[in-house]
Amino acid sequence: MVSSCLALVVLLALPFLALAGDPDILTDFILPPGNNVSLLNGTFFTYTGLFAIDSANPAKFTVTKATATEFPALLGQSVSYAALSFGPGTVNPPHVHPRASELLYVVEGPLLVGLIDETKGELYAQTLQTGDMFVFPKGMVHFQFNSGDHVARAFSAFGSSSPGTVSLPTVLFESGIPDTVLEKSLHVDQATVDVLEQDLAPLAPAPAPSPDTPPTPKNGGAAPAPACFALLACFAAALLL
Ligand SMILES: *[C@@H]1O[C@H](CO)[C@@H](O)[C@H](O)[C@H]1NC(C)=O
Ligand SMILES: *[C@@H]1O[C@H](CO)[C@@H](O)[C@H](O)[C@H]1NC(C)=O
Repeated sequence: MVSSCLALVVLLALPFLALAGDPDILTDFILPPGNNVSLLNGTFFTYTGLFAIDSANPAKFTVTKATATEFPALLGQSVSYAALSFGPGTVNPPHVHPRASELLYVVEGPLLVGLIDETKGELYAQTLQTGDMFVFPKGMVHFQFNSGDHVARAFSAFGSSSPGTVSLPTVLFESGIPDTVLEKSLHVDQATVDVLEQDLAPLAPAPAPSPDTPPTPKNGGAAPAPACFALLACFAAALLL
């Protein structure tokens, strides 16, 4: 069960492992069109938006990015940044950055991180404490989870001004893959796929249980776990081995 969970995650990740990176640029920096270089000053090289971490709802997982999209001076510089805030019990679900390695630094721990090595089908997990650093190599599936009852915070540096994020739950359940394909791929029935899709629908109210299609009870009657939790449970189970 556990190894098949892990194999599934690895299999699902394989199509995303096409890698790319930032090219070297021929100038020191790139001024976006419409800017006058003679009017340039320090403001162009300054970004203040990362302070949004302070206003984050501490009950949620939030990520604030400083990539070339938010901070145009990063264009061509092969670096970017993100601030991550984890409310108690929240997860940054399994995902991949196709264009960059990530160097995560925990400023408020502990924080559980996990990395999947698809060549060995193995999970590398670690509980990081405040001050610890962890590297997620480019293109490898990884996640972070705050299992504690306090907020956890971290900063991540990326080796691309546009690292990209491919979230596995999102691409599986919010990208329009036909239900039949999901049922056959995940070896589950339509009702389970429906539950997973509804659970991931952003800001949707909790789905009312339908009387004619009762959810299949798992583990002797436990209610179906929310999708992210279900995926995380796979990893957690693997951790216990
Ligand atoms: C750029 O700014 C300088 C100084 O204000 C001005 O003389 C010049 O005409 C501007 N160039 C363009 C293309 O707007
Ligand atoms: C720096 O440039 C910005 C426009 O990019 C301008 O709004 C700001 O006033 C300038 N600051 C100084 C000190 O010249």
